[in-house]
Amino acid sequence: LRMFIPRDSGALAVGAEEVAATLLDQAHARQLPIDLVRPGSRGLYWLEPMLEVDTPEGRIAYGPVTSADVPTLLDAIVSGGPHPLRQGLTEEIPWLKRQTRLTFARCGIVDPRSIDDYRAHGGYRGLERALKMSSDAIIDDVVKSGLRGRGGAGFPTGTKWRTVAQAGRGQKYICCNADEGDSGTFADRMLMEGDPFMIIEGMTIAGIAVGATKGYIYIRSEYPHAVEAMSAAIEAARRTGYLGEHICHSTDSFDIEVRVGAGAYICGEETSMLESLEGKRGTVRAKPPLPAHKGLFGRPTVINNVLTFSAVPYILDGGAQAYADCGMGKSRGTKPIQLGGNIKHGGLFEVAFGITLGELVDEIGGGTLSGRPVRAVQVGGPLGAYFPRALFDTPFDYEAFAARSGMVGHGGVVVFDDTVDMAKQARFAMEFCAHESCGKCTPCRIGSTRGAETVDKIIAGDRPAANIAVLEDLCNTMKFGSLCALGGLTPIPVLSALTHFPEDFGLAPRRLQ
Ligand code: NAI
Repeated sequence: LRMFIPRDSGALAVGAEEVAATLLDQAHARQLPIDLVRPGSRGLYWLEPMLEVDTPEGRIAYGPVTSADVPTLLDAIVSGGPHPLRQGLTEEIPWLKRQTRLTFARCGIVDPRSIDDYRAHGGYRGLERALKMSSDAIIDDVVKSGLRGRGGAGFPTGTKWRTVAQAGRGQKYICCNADEGDSGTFADRMLMEGDPFMIIEGMTIAGIAVGATKGYIYIRSEYPHAVEAMSAAIEAARRTGYLGEHICHSTDSFDIEVRVGAGAYICGEETSMLESLEGKRGTVRAKPPLPAHKGLFGRPTVINNVLTFSAVPYILDGGAQAYADCGMGKSRGTKPIQLGGNIKHGGLFEVAFGITLGELVDEIGGGTLSGRPVRAVQVGGPLGAYFPRALFDTPFDYEAFAARSGMVGHGGVVVFDDTVDMAKQARFAMEFCAHESCGKCTPCRIGSTRGAETVDKIIAGDRPAANIAVLEDLCNTMKFGSLCALGGLTPIPVLSALTHFPEDFGLAPRRLQ
C-alpha cells in the first residue's frame, strides 16, 4: 500500500510529522505493509496534513488529518469504506482541477529525494534537449515562450540571458534568488521542498545557454527544510552525472552551491544578494552596472528567481509555444499565485495570467476565514498595493496592475476583512522599510522613519491635511530618490491605503477614478 504525507514546511507546521509517525506505528501494529512517501505539498493548505493513498483509479486524498484520525482512516482505507475526511480523487478536487500546473506539475506528486522519480515524471528532458542545441537556440526558445522574471519585476528572461551570453568569454555565474522575503509568499519554498531537481535543471540550462559553469542558490535562513532538500538534490544530481563535469556525458560542465542568508529582507534585492554571496554585508549596489554585465565577483551573472528557473525545463522540453499560448497581453505563461492572510481556502494556485483578483479572492479563496466581508487585498508582498473591492476586476497581468498603481510582484495575495485599519497598515509599510533598509541611501533610511512618524501624527489627528501633504511629498522623494525597490516601492502600499481607504485617515471617502 503506497501512501503520501507531505514533508513540506506548511504541512509540518500543522502536524504532518506526527501523523506520519502514527501512521507507520499503527500500520506496523496491524502488520499492514505500507510504503510511505514524503513529497512536497499539493498546495491545498486548508487540507494539510493531507494523506493520499495510491489506488488503481488514482490517488485518493484525506484531510486535514490528525494523529487521532489515523485508526479510523486505516479502517476505511483497508475496507474501502467511507470516511468523513475523504476528499475523493486528488486530481478531481475542483480547487486543483481548475489550475494550469506547468511549474507545479510535479509538486506534491514526486518524491523530492529521488532523481529517478523526477526522471520518471518527465524531468531532465529539457536539459537533454538543450544539450543538443546551440546557445542561441536555447535563448530563442526562452524568448519565444515570453517568460518574464517571476521574482516580481517581470523583466524578459530571454533578453537577460542574451545579455550575459554576449558579455564576452571568461567566468560567468548563474545565481538563483531563493531569498523569498515577501509576506504571504511561499511558492519558492514549496518548489525547493517539493521539486528541487527542476530548479537545478533550470539553472543548468541557463548555465549552458550563457556559458557559465558555476551557480549559486541563495536561500533565506528561515527555510531550513528547503536548504536541506536543495542540498540533498544537488548531491544526488552530482552523483548521477547531472551536475559537475561532463553533464550527461557532454562537454558542458556546471555545478551549484547552496548559500544561506542571515535573515535580511534586503538580501533578496539582487545586488545586495551579490554582496552577501561575496561574503560582505548585504547593502545595495548602484545600477548600472547591471549584474548581467558586472555581477558576482564583477563577472557577468544571470540572476533569476526560483520560479523563473523552474519554468525553463518545461519550455525547453518543446513547450515554448504552449507556454506562450497561455496568458494575456505581455504576461505570458502561468503565474503561481499564493493565497494567504484572512482567507478560507489559502494555498498555491497556478493559473494562466488573466484571472481577475475577484475570482481569486471570492471564488477560489472562498472569501475570508473569519466570514466577515473582504475589505482590502494586498497583492505583491509588503511593497504591493492594497486594493479595495472596487478594483477586483483587475486581471493578473503585469501591465494591468501597474496601470492601477499596483504590482503583481511575486504573486502573493493577502486578504484582510473589514476589521483592518488601513492607516495602521500604511504605518506598517513605513515601519517595515525602516526595519529592513540597508541604510545606504537617505530617502529609504531616513524617509521611512519620518514616514512612520508622519502617519502617527495623522492617526492622532494632528493637522491631518498638512501631514498628509508631507506624507505624499515624502513618498515621492522615496519613490524617485531611493537606490533600490525597497525604498522605491514602499510608497505603493502607503499611497494605495490613502487613496482607496481615506476614511481610515480621517478624510472623507473619495470616489475612485
Ligand atoms: P528591476 O526592474 O530593476 O530589474 C529587474 C531585473 O532585470 C534585474 O535582474 C535587472 O538586473 C534586470 N535588468 C534590467 N534591465 C536590464 C537590461 N537592460 N539587460 C539585462 N538585464 C536587465 O527590478 P528589481 O529591483 O530587480 O526588482 C524589483 C521587484 O522585486 C519588484 O517589482 C518586486 O515585485 C520584487 N520583489 C520581490 C520580492 C520577493 O520576495 N520575491 C521581495 C521584494 C521585491
